[in-house]
Amino acid sequence: MTHVLSAVAWPYANGPRHIGHVAGFGVPSDVFSRYMRMAGHDVLMVSGTDEHGTPILVQAEQEGLTPKALADRYNRVIVEDLQGLGLAYDLFTRTTTRNHYAVAQELFRVVHKNGYMIEKTTTGAISPSTGRTLPDRYIEGTCPICGYDGARGDQCDNCGNQLDAAELKNPRSRINGETPKFVETEHFFLDLPALSETLGAWLQTRSDWRPNVLKFSLNLLDDVRPRAMTRDIDWGIPVPLPGWEDNAAKRLYVWFDAVIGYLSASVEWARRTGDDDAWRLWWNDPDARSYYFMGKDNITFHSQIWPAELLAYNGKGNKGGSPGVLGELNLPTEVVSSEFLTMEGKQFSSSRGVVIYVRDMLARYQPDALRYFIATAGPETQDTDFTWTEFVRRTNDELVAGWGNLVNRTASMIHKNLGAIPERGVLAEADHALLATTEAGFTSVGDLLGTHRQKQAVAEAMRVVSEANKYLSDQAPWKLKTEDPERMKTVLHVAAQAISDCRTMLSPFLPHSAQAVHEAFGGVGTVSPMPQIREVEDLDGGPGYPVLMGDYTRGKTLAEWKPVPIVPGTPVPAPVPVFTKLDDSVVAEEIARLEEKAGA
Ligand code: MF3
Ligand code: ZN
Repeated sequence: MTHVLSAVAWPYANGPRHIGHVAGFGVPSDVFSRYMRMAGHDVLMVSGTDEHGTPILVQAEQEGLTPKALADRYNRVIVEDLQGLGLAYDLFTRTTTRNHYAVAQELFRVVHKNGYMIEKTTTGAISPSTGRTLPDRYIEGTCPICGYDGARGDQCDNCGNQLDAAELKNPRSRINGETPKFVETEHFFLDLPALSETLGAWLQTRSDWRPNVLKFSLNLLDDVRPRAMTRDIDWGIPVPLPGWEDNAAKRLYVWFDAVIGYLSASVEWARRTGDDDAWRLWWNDPDARSYYFMGKDNITFHSQIWPAELLAYNGKGNKGGSPGVLGELNLPTEVVSSEFLTMEGKQFSSSRGVVIYVRDMLARYQPDALRYFIATAGPETQDTDFTWTEFVRRTNDELVAGWGNLVNRTASMIHKNLGAIPERGVLAEADHALLATTEAGFTSVGDLLGTHRQKQAVAEAMRVVSEANKYLSDQAPWKLKTEDPERMKTVLHVAAQAISDCRTMLSPFLPHSAQAVHEAFGGVGTVSPMPQIREVEDLDGGPGYPVLMGDYTRGKTLAEWKPVPIVPGTPVPAPVPVFTKLDDSVVAEEIARLEEKAGA
């Protein structure tokens, strides 16, 4: 049994999330965390909404709201969507809590004290027409390295290099096209060169990461420069140093504080659950493991910036130093990044209307249908495409006709002929074979889930489902009713046991229907728990907010990862189908909806 931190990327609270987002960070982290809990590990799954930085400011301006009001609005929308998908966070919070401010400032202070935050004068851009600072990502121009003309002030999407806006050739504002004016400004820079030796040595030990992620991360070490961790912006966490603290025009960089959210949310969780120091089991114990889930555009911040912040806090760079009150903090065990999901062949873009919001999906389809699509066809190690045709096909052919049909016909035969789970007689060879298959499934599916090969894992679990379907067709219990009723009972018992095992194995992917299948066979209590929305007070006197929390206790509200013998005599009610079959017309309807959005 190990302490396992599931650190899930923090969605920006600047709009509703689309299915590409939850395919990257949401569903994979939940599948992993549910499995690890069932397998007996002490999982702490944390995240929240990312509420600082220019993305929030720009959207607030568009909606005519203050940044805080905008964040309040989308924090709630996102909390509801993630709850609807059944993502079982121990705590889903936000970055505007006082607790988060305090933890982020503690990190900054100690990193500074240890010598890894260096003050430098640099050039920053301002908009000549408004006099306001123009953030790097709102400047566009020609990349000085590869010559690509659409490079942004922070990064070139063509060659992948990090840039300074002042280095761009022909710089222009992406907001109004004007040429920015560059002025001198003071900032704090994280001294990555002083950390790169320890960072490199640590990365070299990460050989079991997904090859794309490791390769990208190692490449980052080729060009290590100090990176600005403060911004000329009035929305964010104050810089906790004399002379800076009261300067309303300087704030910590959003990415400096967002990654600290993993730690502050762990602290908040501990404070909310009654043992203020409980978070240390995941952060200070070197045997604890931590897995970070995200889309590939976040890799830099999780395999370089965040580990560098941690090493600097720990005093583990060329300049030495010692940790602050939080103690020596663990670096990530693995950065589990996925690739991108496209939609009908195009990149998701809310502004161009190429988008399917989680909310719309949940209003029309079962959450497990979306989860199943992401698990089987998501962008685990390469970009994949969401199409409505494939969504309908997978739902109907695999969920409804495969797993749903197995559940339905078995429950229906038991209900009609016996009314309750039958005893089993002597087992025949085919019975033993099926039960051996399901039992072995726990090992094979579990090994795949524990090593982030979820697509193979779900395929393996569905293979076991087909074996059970085949068993039922071969044994044809409906024919045995008059011929050999005792044998019929044994077959239905074995089928119900196999279903119970498949249900357990599929529950990390399909938690809603797992609970429904449990109840379809007369089960009581919770085997597949859901997160709840709770309205809480800020722990340190700030405004209240909604969080996601839940009770995911193995053996109590959550099934264990092993076959559990079914109980003869348990009444089996008349079944209602677990999955809803989709009409083929869904495809045309949804494509028309998309076209309407894109045209609007
Ligand atoms: N808000 C960022 C995004 O959507 C992700 C932040 S992840 C965190 O790309 F690690 F910084 F929290
Ligand atoms: Zn370039």
